[in-house]
Amino acid sequence: MCGIIGVTGAADALDILLDGLERLEYRGYDSAGVAVMNDQEVVRWRIADGTQSVATLRHVTQGAPEVHAGIGHTRWATHGQPNETNAHPHLDCSGELALVHNGIIENHAELAAGLVARGHTLVSVTDTEVLAHLIEELLVETGSLVEAVRQALGLVRGAFAIGVMSTREPDVIVAARRISPLIVGRHDGASFLASDIPAILERTRDVVILEDDQIVELRPGAIVVRNLDGKEVTPRAMHVDWDIEAAQKDGYDDYMTKEIAEQPRAIADTLRGRVAPNGSIVLDRFELNEDQVKAVNKIIMVACGSSFHAALVAKYAFERWTRIPVEVDIASEFRYRDPVLDSQTLVIGVSQSGESVDTLQAVRHGAEGGAATMVVTNVVDSTMAREADAVLYTRAGPEISVASTKTVVASIVALQLLGLHIARVRGSLDDASFQQEVAALQSLEGLVAETVTRDAQVKAVAEAIGDARDFFFLGRHAGYPTALEGALKLKEISYLHAEGYPGGELKHGPLAVIEPGCVVVAMATGGPLKEKMLSNVAEVKSRGATVILLVDDGDDEAAAQGDYRIFVPSAPELHAPVKDLVPLQQFAYFLARGRGFNVDRPRNLAKTVTVE
Ligand code: F6R
Repeated sequence: MCGIIGVTGAADALDILLDGLERLEYRGYDSAGVAVMNDQEVVRWRIADGTQSVATLRHVTQGAPEVHAGIGHTRWATHGQPNETNAHPHLDCSGELALVHNGIIENHAELAAGLVARGHTLVSVTDTEVLAHLIEELLVETGSLVEAVRQALGLVRGAFAIGVMSTREPDVIVAARRISPLIVGRHDGASFLASDIPAILERTRDVVILEDDQIVELRPGAIVVRNLDGKEVTPRAMHVDWDIEAAQKDGYDDYMTKEIAEQPRAIADTLRGRVAPNGSIVLDRFELNEDQVKAVNKIIMVACGSSFHAALVAKYAFERWTRIPVEVDIASEFRYRDPVLDSQTLVIGVSQSGESVDTLQAVRHGAEGGAATMVVTNVVDSTMAREADAVLYTRAGPEISVASTKTVVASIVALQLLGLHIARVRGSLDDASFQQEVAALQSLEGLVAETVTRDAQVKAVAEAIGDARDFFFLGRHAGYPTALEGALKLKEISYLHAEGYPGGELKHGPLAVIEPGCVVVAMATGGPLKEKMLSNVAEVKSRGATVILLVDDGDDEAAAQGDYRIFVPSAPELHAPVKDLVPLQQFAYFLARGRGFNVDRPRNLAKTVTVE
């Protein structure tokens, strides 16, 4: 997730870009850059200074001459390190064309090979730079910036929101989108583009939210929108009356709701470009070769909190697909228990931040013991990403709410992708099953999108159980870590007592505390253990607990056994946790809000825990 901005026709264009980038920083802050049109010349500044990137950019551009047009970018690296060379804007060979991009160009490698063969010099390690060079070629052929961009976009696969400018048409900026968000607006002789509304809200309240496959020509005070087939369309303008804070949350009440809603996109981005058209899996920086993967005879996943739960969910799939034994360890315990490690062990750290000190130390301990190490993380170039032998990035974008939501589902999806890759290399999964599992992973985006929209049923249940204070979350199989995560979310943000348990373990102690007033949330979605789960439900009901059941659509028979039910679309048991987590997040959210708490900043917690 990156942020882009552009303006033409404003005397204070550079300030507009810098103010906009500040507002877009939540979308990424590995590096930032601007390119402006100064006397028919492109002038560019780029800074890779972590969280300080935009501030430093403001500092270095102080005193620059007045310009009327430019584009800007704040980066959340997905391809290539977060350094200055990879920072946007990217230029073509002549330096007369500049481009900013949010998204992922999936076929960048093959496009780059063609460009290099035709004499272009590419200087960065990004998926974006190819676009600048493709447009450069087509600009010579067509003589029109908008036409060159339109034709270039016909050659790419993937997601994009772009802004392009060229000295050939110094007043013009061309923008376009597919999947990645893009808005344009106009006010007082100036035209603007941005990834979202807050970036330009101080300049205009009249915006157009572009649709997929639309391309826009921005001139001072004039905007022409076309479909990518070239046909002009009349865009639907919108007047924004939110204040800036509401706009930053995209109109949602808080970041947690926004991030819950972003989960379908987080899943899609995590999978994007990683399943090749022939069905094989392409992992960007998976630097363990096939022989190393074949030699692995034990996998240990290490993680904390929600990432630990994501790893537990993935264990079920890993073992079934790869037939390699998988242990999942709490990172803070791992290195103190003298684990058995050798060169055939693969230690996988799972950490959205890539910085949790316990997980970092656990991965280091794995390396010291001679194991191969890898990490699954959301933050490019985080300490773990730099130190591990291999890394697989989730692409959920920055997560601001302290309670993790979208990074958890993205971690599960990334781990499952990795499991399928390992299974494929080792030949432990036949072709048909492999394709079936890949298809199931790809269908999760749609299932989660559907589940997110069903918040009203969850809210009704949360309101109905009123002021309950004790919660047990029960699950079996992959539903067990789902239950653990449901309980964690609830206690983190609502400060209520909640425990996650495997359904079968109930009789070995916890039943003693089940009594009227206690709420049991049971994962009773499809799978071979559903009947057993329902027997556990009967046990708690007979002791007076109030039961909330998570059930598959249409399973009225199971639903009838709960006091309340939450319906979810069904999915194969290994993949079900990804969409089953959504109503659990929403449940915790509604209870916390009902109790008047700030869900984004729960007490006693930090987003990244860097002390043991
Ligand atoms: C829960 C939560 C924490 C983190 C844990 C690990 O909502 O956010 O439990 O999951 O602190 O953090 P990372 O994944 O950054 O290592």
